[in-house]
Amino acid sequence: MIWPGQASGTGQTDAIDRRIDPARWRQAVYSDVSLTTQWDDGEHSGTGKGRTPTCSNSQPSMVFSMLAALDVEPGSRVLEVGTGTGWNAALLSERFGSPNVVTVEVDADNAATARARLGAAGYSPMAVVGDGAEGWKPSAPFDRVLITASLRQVPRAIVEQVRPGGIIVAPYATEYGGEGVVRLTVREDGSASGPFVGSSAFMRLRQQRTQRTHVREYLGGKPWPADGAKSMTSTSPEELGDWLPMFAIGLQTAGVFPWAEVYDDGSYTLWLRDKAVTSWASIDYVPGAEEFEVYQSGPRTLWGEVQSAYSWWHLQGRPGFERFGITVAAGGLAHAWLDSPSHSVPRVG
Ligand SMILES: C[S@@+](CC[C@H](N)C(=O)[O-])C[C@H]1O[C@@H](n2cnc3c(N)ncnc32)[C@H](O)[C@@H]1O
Repeated sequence: MIWPGQASGTGQTDAIDRRIDPARWRQAVYSDVSLTTQWDDGEHSGTGKGRTPTCSNSQPSMVFSMLAALDVEPGSRVLEVGTGTGWNAALLSERFGSPNVVTVEVDADNAATARARLGAAGYSPMAVVGDGAEGWKPSAPFDRVLITASLRQVPRAIVEQVRPGGIIVAPYATEYGGEGVVRLTVREDGSASGPFVGSSAFMRLRQQRTQRTHVREYLGGKPWPADGAKSMTSTSPEELGDWLPMFAIGLQTAGVFPWAEVYDDGSYTLWLRDKAVTSWASIDYVPGAEEFEVYQSGPRTLWGEVQSAYSWWHLQGRPGFERFGITVAAGGLAHAWLDSPSHSVPRVG
């Protein structure tokens, strides 16, 4: 059973069962769309959609661009994290030989189905069940690592299991939202650094998912606007809402995330909250307005932080994903940069 379409939310079309409608199934499988194959870590069953897609066959054009960035050479040893359907592992095995491919999947059901599919197609990469953030030490060192679930932190174990000069390709998501595929080269000193090569929208690595506290907890049970201080802003929340500015804001801010409460008349409230549950801000967007009402509460002025992160990005000429990069120090901390590692992206807040 597959649900074709955007895998980051519930925008997929209805389920297609290969046994019932093989022609539509085939058409979907040969289209440039991702195919959701599991919801809610397998807790959801039936033909309807679940709450959150948790496994998919990624969009073919994304798979191919990531494989191109991985730049695998004949004889390279490759680790894939996130076996999913097994398609990517099959592509790697076909091109570089099953003995050179290790693929790790956290979900035992996904792993078992993928292993059966790979076997039926004549491939035998080492397919293991485990937390891919730990890499797969018994087969290290690797020349290449391809991660097919998005990261908020680059796992230390992965960097340590790649030989110097080796390459890691992974979707890297900021806390704020916005995500790009990063291509890191591992250095002799155990650090890894490299640019983003494009935008992406993957499901998160299972252990790095975010737990979010409800807005009402931030208001502490007090009636609106609780202890929020009112001000006005001429920056429209509309300017900040695209994937690229969200990514740029996320590289500069720490632990802030947005959520839009949308109303029927086209207006919405942009909520900003911090992960530590100390601060919140709300900005009321009204179509056609020139100024927008803001409430902020807590030790952090979250709208101020987000606005200044947005302004910095705007002043740099609104750089695209490919002008950003990250460096992961040997100790594990990542720092983001623009154009070169010596030009750090500023941190606000
Ligand atoms: C977008 S799918 C991967 C697509 C896959 N490469 C393919 O060719 O079909 C993401 C997969 O990553 C898996 N995953 C999530 N967290 C993981 C982790 N910590 N270690 C290994 N796999 C993980 C999910 O269970 C899911 O199957």
